[in-house]
Amino acid sequence: MQSRVEQIVIIGTGGTIAGAAGSATDNVGYKAGQLSVASLVAAIPALQAEPLEAEQLAQLDSKDMDHPTWARLARRVQEHLDRPEVRGIVITHGTDTLEETAYLLQRVLAPRKPVVLTAAMRPATAIQADGPQNLLDAVAVVKADGAQGVVAVVAGQVLHGLELRKTHSYRLDAFDAGPDGGLLGVVEEGVLRRFREWPRGEALGASLLPEDAARWPWVEVLASHAGAQARALQAWHTAGVQGVVLACTGNGTVHEALSAPIQALRDAGVPVWRTTRCAQGRIVGAPEEKAAALSPWAARIELTLELLKRTH
Ligand code: SIN
Repeated sequence: MQSRVEQIVIIGTGGTIAGAAGSATDNVGYKAGQLSVASLVAAIPALQAEPLEAEQLAQLDSKDMDHPTWARLARRVQEHLDRPEVRGIVITHGTDTLEETAYLLQRVLAPRKPVVLTAAMRPATAIQADGPQNLLDAVAVVKADGAQGVVAVVAGQVLHGLELRKTHSYRLDAFDAGPDGGLLGVVEEGVLRRFREWPRGEALGASLLPEDAARWPWVEVLASHAGAQARALQAWHTAGVQGVVLACTGNGTVHEALSAPIQALRDAGVPVWRTTRCAQGRIVGAPEEKAAALSPWAARIELTLELLKRTH
């Protein structure tokens, strides 16, 4: 029997970490989400002595992450966190939308126990797969003293769940800590060296997320760019979009061609939030902008949550 507060639950959702290619030297021509999370755990000798439970919640390429899967994941994570014997959760996930899932889970669950997302840039079949080390490091972070909140662990880096961004399409250290706060820590030979506080906040509650896809508000992201045209926004407006996040140029500016359709949306009561499309920084000097410091993708989630709160 395990003593209390020791169990670690590893929830699999797919991704390259569970991906398989036809050849061990092929790092890009693979199919994500092929191997079970139980088999990923079983392949790591150092994890065999750990009190782990593996559970397959989904098996997808994270580019295809959807709202009902998010709702199921948030509820399941909360159920496990409520078990007194559970110390924390590891979630294996694709890198492509990992930052979105991390943001959502921190805002909805704000857990007092650790929820650690991990991933890989190379499939499990690769000659030098990065997934096993990342999984091992994620377990080390769950076991670290005082660990709490949603974080991600990739390539030895521990990243804040509300801030991380995928910034590279190929490198093993594909994630950046975000514009301001820096890394939360690093894992070195199974030991966490922490630089910042764990993520904290008020939990909105997993029940805010509908399991029925049709009950999620329709919120889109539109980038302002050279040659921008009003037509896309007008079409969304006609089709019933319920919220728009603008990935603006520079310090929150938008192409003049977008001004009229933005105003029309606002006049109709459709929220239009501004973020910057710059990889670094935030919109400065606009305290009224709720998403000034967020990436467009995080802002889309934040606006979605705001709209869900209105109807909850
Ligand atoms: C995915 O996001 O599921 C595929 C890509 C990756 O995990 O790196």
